Amino acid sequence: MKYLPIIICALALCLGEAYAAEQTDTDKKVPVAWGKNCAPCHGGNGKATTTIGRKMKAADLTSEKIQKKYKDKPEEIVKLISEGLIKDKKVIMKPLKDKLEEEDMKELAKYLQELGKKKDEK
Ligand code: HEC
Repeated sequence: MKYLPIIICALALCLGEAYAAEQTDTDKKVPVAWGKNCAPCHGGNGKATTTIGRKMKAADLTSEKIQKKYKDKPEEIVKLISEGLIKDKKVIMKPLKDKLEEEDMKELAKYLQELGKKKDEK
């Protein structure tokens, strides 16, 4: 598979671009862990309007449905981040328990909950 490095480079570029584009129109206080692990699909503002987010039909995390589901349940979000999201045996969101510290996941959970509140400000 001699094209693998090229594919990886292209993918990295693509992710970087999605993140960079998202950064300009959102809060600068996006946690680094969010930018790295969630923003490529869900965007810095959680609305999943990035190229990859649209393609994958990632959930709009500012939506009432998601915000209600995870309201007052940061531990559920931490669990989701830790174990990932697997649907029909397809990995949609990779488990991050080996990549992130518990503290980071808690920070992401808090950030996700904050997204619901920020929505009304714009
Ligand atoms: C590779 C793209 C991708 C990445 C990276 C990603 N997600 Fe997702 N996420 C998705 C998709 C796609 C869905 C919609 C899944 C579905 O319902 O079919 C989703 C759904 C969700 C949901 C809704 C789950 C529910 O209860 O319906 C939450 C919450 C979520 N993501 C949080 C996160 C967080 C937090 C991160 C970062 C740690 C993250 N995601 C990273 C693609 C991604």
